[in-house]
Amino acid sequence: VRERALILAGLVGFLAAVTWPAWSARASHPVSDGPVLVRPVGETKCVAPTDVMRRTHMRLLADWRDSVVRTGVRMMTTNDGRQFRMSLTGTCLGCHQKAGFCDRCHAYVSVKPACWECHVAGKESR
Ligand code: HEC
Ligand code: HEC
Ligand code: HEC
Repeated sequence: VRERALILAGLVGFLAAVTWPAWSARASHPVSDGPVLVRPVGETKCVAPTDVMRRTHMRLLADWRDSVVRTGVRMMTTNDGRQFRMSLTGTCLGCHQKAGFCDRCHAYVSVKPACWECHVAGKESR
């Protein structure tokens, strides 16, 4: 049993040594993962899964606007049953910081959504 343990320990050590360059390269170059975003504090879930939001939040916002402006429906239910008011400033910015989150990522990818001249944080109609 002792010998097996020794062989195992040797194997683990060998693997660590062989893969070490990859680990240390990863640790010393942590910056290539995009902008540093200010994350919501005390919230764990967006109105849709994070990867879905990352790819499709623009379309979701357009759908929210159409629903509110065209049909007057202001509430929505997420797939996991939570209810939200469909409001850019009231709901999205209730969890997210405009500057540290939306603006920072948009600056990084060079998009400038033209929403903020009308939708001002804290001053929206409701
Ligand atoms: C010219 C002004 C203007 C611009 C620019 C604008 N909106 Fe709006 N938006 C409005 C008005 C007015 C309403 C209706 C407000 C209401 O009924 O509560 C509205 C409603 C909405 C709503 C639903 C209600 C709410 O309070 O959020 C969403 C979501 C929305 N807009 C998203 C956007 C997005 C996303 C952009 C940028 C791509 C954008 N809007 C640009 C004027 C504007
Ligand atoms: C109840 C709080 C809450 C609301 C409301 C909310 N979010 Fe989120 N959102 C989160 C959380 C929590 C995450 C996950 C952050 C993480 O993974 O660190 C997230 C993730 C995201 C992401 C992906 C970020 C990334 O890492 O790529 C985007 C984009 C986003 N939200 C946009 C929005 C928009 C736009 C709205 C309004 C339509 C909105 N969120 C409403 C809490 C919220
Ligand atoms: C992780 C990065 C990221 C975060 C965080 C993020 N966005 Fe975006 N957003 C993008 C990208 C990338 C695009 C452009 C997508 C495209 O052109 O297909 C975009 C586009 C948009 C558009 C459409 C712009 C247009 O002119 O068509 C709106 C509206 C928008 N984002 C709103 C928001 C809001 C509101 C938040 C914060 C609650 C937010 N985004 C957070 C990456 C992000």
